[in-house]
Amino acid sequence: MTRFARHLEHHTIVNPFPGIVKLETALGHRIKTRIGSNESLPDPVSPLAGELGKALAEMARLYPDPYAHALRERAARLNGVSPDEVLFDTGADSLILLALRLTCNPGDAVVTTAGTYPTFRYFAEGVGARVLEVPYCQRGQHLQPDLARLAEVARAEHASVLYLANPDNPTGHYWQAEDIRTLRAALPPHTLLLLDEAYVDFCTDAADAPPAGILPHTLRLRTLSKAYAWPACGLALPLPVPTSLPRPTRSARNTRCPALPRRRPRSCWTTRTTRASWWRKPSPCAITSAMHSTTRA
Ligand SMILES: Cc1ncc(COP(=O)(O)O)c(C=O)c1O
Repeated sequence: MTRFARHLEHHTIVNPFPGIVKLETALGHRIKTRIGSNESLPDPVSPLAGELGKALAEMARLYPDPYAHALRERAARLNGVSPDEVLFDTGADSLILLALRLTCNPGDAVVTTAGTYPTFRYFAEGVGARVLEVPYCQRGQHLQPDLARLAEVARAEHASVLYLANPDNPTGHYWQAEDIRTLRAALPPHTLLLLDEAYVDFCTDAADAPPAGILPHTLRLRTLSKAYAWPACGLALPLPVPTSLPRPTRSARNTRCPALPRRRPRSCWTTRTTRASWWRKPSPCAITSAMHSTTRA
């Protein structure tokens, strides 16, 4: 079983503001009058209306659904998982923090690579974790995260989290699906593998398809801020945590994006004409911004 932070293990935290969609589901009917919680009548007088333009002002007028039901359903469909396994938030970074808050007690060991994407360390320090860094190993001229050593340290220190950016930032190194599965298999179940796939959309070779389906005890982060160049849009993750655990209601503040892109946009990084076959069909890679979890045993 994935280990949750002590204060969350046996405690149900009830969201006092679940939002209209959740309430409608619980009540079994539509709510006709939905003004509340700071929301305004249809034509609010706001000094920002002129600044934002009509469309944006209309979007900003009401709170979005805190549970981002529509987005999660769509992301789940594209990824072949259930909506309960998908979570949106304001970016990969905020999901890194969320994962740490869910799993770490002060003093817990967390493992990462020295010199990799530094936000993990920053947030880990913020939750009082003991950050253990493993040096890159060198292959020829290239540096790569040392998977064997990372797993060894995680095991020896009973780590709560092992963070791996794959593709790695800044080296650009990419471990293929089989290596990731081997890494996961080398970790104890209580060590959450926080697999940051922020750049995976740039892996266009079929051989570089990320692991399909759900990996056990793993959260997979995706983002719209890289290949899609939409840094203000949220993320998702398949996250089969017990429903008693708190959901990050703040996520919804930023999940009012119009829609997920239907097709992968061309970007300067992806001008290759051959797309990997795994990209063409709906698959775990078919959307960015997903964080795939996998506390499924
Ligand atoms: C490896 C990696 N993960 C996450 C992020 C942050 O992503 P987001 O913009 O979705 O917070 C970055 C940003 O540079 C990154 O390089």
